[in-house]
Amino acid sequence: MQEMGYRAIDLLVERFATLGEQPVIQTASKEEMELSLHEPPPAEPSSFDDLLDRLTTDVLPFMSRGDHPRFFAYIPTSPTWPSVIGDLLATGFNIYQGAWVESAGPSEVELVVIDWFRQWVGYPDTAGGILLSGGSAANMTALAAAADEKLGPRSHAGTIYVSTQAHSSVLRAARVLGFPAEHVRIIPVDDDFRMRVDELERAITEDSREGCRPFFVVANAGTTNTGSVDPLVEIAALCAEHGLWLQADAAYGGFAALTERGQHALHGLSLVDSITLDPHKWLYQPLEAGCCLVRDRELLRKSFYIAPDYLRDAEVAGDREINFSDVGIQLSRRSRALKIWLSLQYFSVDAYRSTIDRCLDLTALAQDYVRESQRLELLVPATLGVLCFRCRPDGMEDEAELERLNGRLVSALMDSGRGMVSTTVLEGRRAVRLCVLNHSSTEDDVLEVLRFFEEN
Ligand SMILES: Cc1ncc(COP(=O)(O)O)c(C=O)c1O
Repeated sequence: MQEMGYRAIDLLVERFATLGEQPVIQTASKEEMELSLHEPPPAEPSSFDDLLDRLTTDVLPFMSRGDHPRFFAYIPTSPTWPSVIGDLLATGFNIYQGAWVESAGPSEVELVVIDWFRQWVGYPDTAGGILLSGGSAANMTALAAAADEKLGPRSHAGTIYVSTQAHSSVLRAARVLGFPAEHVRIIPVDDDFRMRVDELERAITEDSREGCRPFFVVANAGTTNTGSVDPLVEIAALCAEHGLWLQADAAYGGFAALTERGQHALHGLSLVDSITLDPHKWLYQPLEAGCCLVRDRELLRKSFYIAPDYLRDAEVAGDREINFSDVGIQLSRRSRALKIWLSLQYFSVDAYRSTIDRCLDLTALAQDYVRESQRLELLVPATLGVLCFRCRPDGMEDEAELERLNGRLVSALMDSGRGMVSTTVLEGRRAVRLCVLNHSSTEDDVLEVLRFFEEN
C-alpha cells in the first residue's frame, strides 16, 4: 500500500511542480485513443507500476490542464495541494456522508463549511445548504425546493424567468424537473449584459394577467459569458412584491464576496432565497464541489425528505443533527467538505481573499493592456475576472472575417500548448474570453496570452 501510495503521490507532485512547462492542453482523436486503450476486460492481473506507467503515457497526457497558469478558457479549476490531499483522505476513509449516525464528524465538518459560506454571502442563521457535485446540481436543487414551496409538490404549472445570459444548467434543470420550454421566459439584458428589471417586471405582470403562475427568477451573480452581475437589489424587491422565489446563480462569482471589490459587485446577494456556489471554481477545490445555500434551510428538507423502512435506524431526532441525504438528491454521498475544510484551515481565509483579489488585479491589468493596444478591442468592461475582447486589425470591419481571424487565433494558441482561452458570442459578435481565476497565474502569464493575439 505504501509503495503504491508513494508512487502515486510522487507522480502528482511532479505534475504540480512541472505544470507551467507542460502544454496547457493535449488532445487526440478517438482512433488514436482506441489504438492505445481499447482492449477486453483484463483476464490477468498486472503490476501497479506497469499500470501507472500506462496511465502516465497513454491516458493522463491527453487532457486539458485546467489548473495550468495559462489556462484562461471556460472557467478554470485550480485546486491547491491541501485540497487534493483532503479529497484523497475523503476517498481513502470511504466516508459515507448520507446519515449523521454514520458520519457525525464529517457531517459536522460539512455544517461548519456551509456556515462559513453562509457568513460570506451575508445570509441569516436560518440559512443552510448542502454540498453537491457542482453548479448544475445546485441550480436543480434550488429549483426543486422553490417549486415545492411555491407551487406544491409535482406541479409544473409555474413560470420561470432567466436572462439571456443564464447558464445552460438552469434551462436543463427546468427541463429535467418537467417544466415545459414555454414556461421559461428569457429576459433581455442591458449593454452590460445585466438582466433588464423593467422587462422582467413586464413579463411577470403580463404572465400573471394571462393566468400563468410566475414563481422562480434566476439572477446571475457572475455570468459565465462576461462575469456580469444582475441588479440583485432591484430584482429582489420585485420578487418580494410578487411573492416569487429568487435564486442567484453565483456558481462562478460567489466567492468573490470574500473581497471588497467582490462584495461591491455582488451587492444584494444576501437578499435572495437561494444561492448556487461552486467551490471547485473560485475556492480552489478539485472537481467536484458545488453548493446550494437556501435562506430557510427547512425548505430543502421539506422538498427532499423521504423515510423508507430500511433507513429508520438512521433517522435523526430533532433539528440539531442532520442526515444530509434528507436535504438533497443523493443518498450515498462522499464528503466534499473535508477538502474545503482542510485547505481553508491550512491557508486561512485571508490567503483566499488575497488570491481572489490578485485575480481581479490581473483582470484589470489585462483590460488596461487591451484598451491600450492598437490591435485588440475590448468588447465589454471586465467584471469579476472575465475579460471579453477580440483581435481587430486596422481596417478589418467585416464581422465574418473578424470571426474567422479570432477563431483561428484561439485554435493556434491552443495548438501551441502555450495557453488557452475560449470564445463566446456577445450581441452577435464572436468574443475571445479570458477568465483569470488561477492562484498561480502571473502578470507574465496573462500578458503572454494577450501578446499572442496582438502579434499573430
Ligand atoms: C454561472 C454558472 N452556473 C452554473 C454552472 C454549472 O456549474 P458546474 O459545471 O459545476 O455544474 C457554471 C459552470 O461554469 C456557471 O458558470
